[in-house]
Amino acid sequence: MEVVKIVAKPLPEKVYNTESAGISRKTHDEHYKLYQGYVNKANEIREKLAALDKDPAKANQTYSDIRVLKVEYTFALGGVKNHELYFDILGGKGGAPTGPVAEAINKHFGSYEAWAQDLKATGIAARGWVWLALDHDDGSLFNYIGDAQNTFPIWNATPILALDTYEHAYYYDFQTARAKYIDAFLQVIDWDAVNARLEQALKMYNAGR
Ligand SMILES: [Fe+2]
Repeated sequence: MEVVKIVAKPLPEKVYNTESAGISRKTHDEHYKLYQGYVNKANEIREKLAALDKDPAKANQTYSDIRVLKVEYTFALGGVKNHELYFDILGGKGGAPTGPVAEAINKHFGSYEAWAQDLKATGIAARGWVWLALDHDDGSLFNYIGDAQNTFPIWNATPILALDTYEHAYYYDFQTARAKYIDAFLQVIDWDAVNARLEQALKMYNAGR
């Protein structure tokens, strides 16, 4: 059986555009090392799962090798996917969006300002992530809360924007002032990247109708 290996994506050069808003180059360089760690661990767990004895008699919900590997696999793979999304949608002009995402935000939140307020409050309330996602069941957009790499994602939805609220994303630049970090984030969203992801998600949504 072939074990598919995850290949780390390079850090997009455009993320460094966030320096103008106060999110430093150093933060991104250190953050990228964490991302590489998630890639390495996800690959390591894939190898270990492929080699694992899957005898159900050895499985146990309190502690067993398969439990540990499968639980931590979701943490590692979530860490890969969450950060690829986060890095992809950073480094733009921020502010109010244009294009399809502007229409969708106006439809589902009322206005960009209302969406940004919801994102900021959700981000302050989160322990790890906020994801703006399209729900393929009803076509709605929602700012979902996440506490860890693998906490509270929902099925049949596609995240199109991610806000990392772990302290490693902002402490070096803003210390404990997470609200200021989120204000900076709002100034450097790459709406073209978000629009590209929304267009892909809408194709999936429309194909399923
Ligand atoms: Fe992170």
